Amino acid sequence: MRGNRERMWPEFLEATPSSKETMYMGRLEGKVAIVTGAGRGIGAEIARTFAREGADVVLASLIREEIDQVAEEVRHAGRAALPVQTDITVKVEIAIMVQRTHEEFGKIDILVNNAGTIRPADFLETTEEDWDAIQAVDLKGLFLCTQAVAPHMIRQRYGKIVNVSSMAANGWYMPGYASYCAAKAAVNNLTKYTARELGEYGINVNAVAPGEILTALTYQGQSTEEVEKKLKNSRAMTMVKRIGEPKDVASLVLFLASDESTFIAGETISVDGGRIDRM
Ligand SMILES: NC(=O)c1ccc[n+]([C@@H]2O[C@H](COP(=O)([O-])OP(=O)(O)OC[C@H]3O[C@@H](n4cnc5c(N)ncnc54)[C@H](O)[C@@H]3O)[C@@H](O)[C@H]2O)c1
Repeated sequence: MRGNRERMWPEFLEATPSSKETMYMGRLEGKVAIVTGAGRGIGAEIARTFAREGADVVLASLIREEIDQVAEEVRHAGRAALPVQTDITVKVEIAIMVQRTHEEFGKIDILVNNAGTIRPADFLETTEEDWDAIQAVDLKGLFLCTQAVAPHMIRQRYGKIVNVSSMAANGWYMPGYASYCAAKAAVNNLTKYTARELGEYGINVNAVAPGEILTALTYQGQSTEEVEKKLKNSRAMTMVKRIGEPKDVASLVLFLASDESTFIAGETISVDGGRIDRM
């Protein structure tokens, strides 16, 4: 037995290319990914990260100029980029975006449901329109994108869907964000539901729940003093005593979009620096 092993090891080593000959293969080499809300913030960072790791990226978002800019960065990383101006609350626009992706690349391996919005308003002041607008983007849009992409992934018997939820889903009291908290909590549940529906076809559905991340979304419409106060408080609320950056979220999304996570399904994973009020 020992003798056999001794004979096998050198043979194995000879068959292994030396480190000089081994080229770095990106963790998403050859994959095609759709990222919604890829024009700025977390979505733009996910698109850049995916491109660096070898994926071609479809940038589906509201603002043309923003996705054109990120598309340039993806191309600069040596990958193909397809910016498609898309409002994810409109089913026909999603259908066109998915069709264009399929025509251009012939497959869809990854969907990141990242697009999201907020409309902070006191609970009693929140209008029906405010409520609906949040639900339409943060929940319905995510559902519609998943539903449009799933048949392609089912045919391929392969797919990765990553939903961007939020710490707001954890049942916390976040004044001014009633509709947002409700939508994100529903995203966590929908993540489990779709993971169960699609798992047997080789499709993993998971979610990430970011804490406070420095982007336009969190601090829009606030004065410098308000932002500074909020940042100080947010730092204190994490175990690692810092504010999150888009790349913190992008690294986790990359893991869930890669083949390193094929035995993870239906999970919502926090990326919040260890919020002490979550523990
Ligand atoms: N920034 C944070 O602190 C934080 C925390 C938790 C969760 N999140 C979530 O992360 C995701 C990204 O947030 P961000 O901070 O990068 O926000 P952001 O405002 O910087 O970017 C949001 C992107 O979504 C796009 N978008 C908005 N409505 C859309 C629509 N109807 N159709 C298509 N695209 C649309 C915007 O154009 C933009 O490109 C959101 O789902 C958000 O809820 C953010």
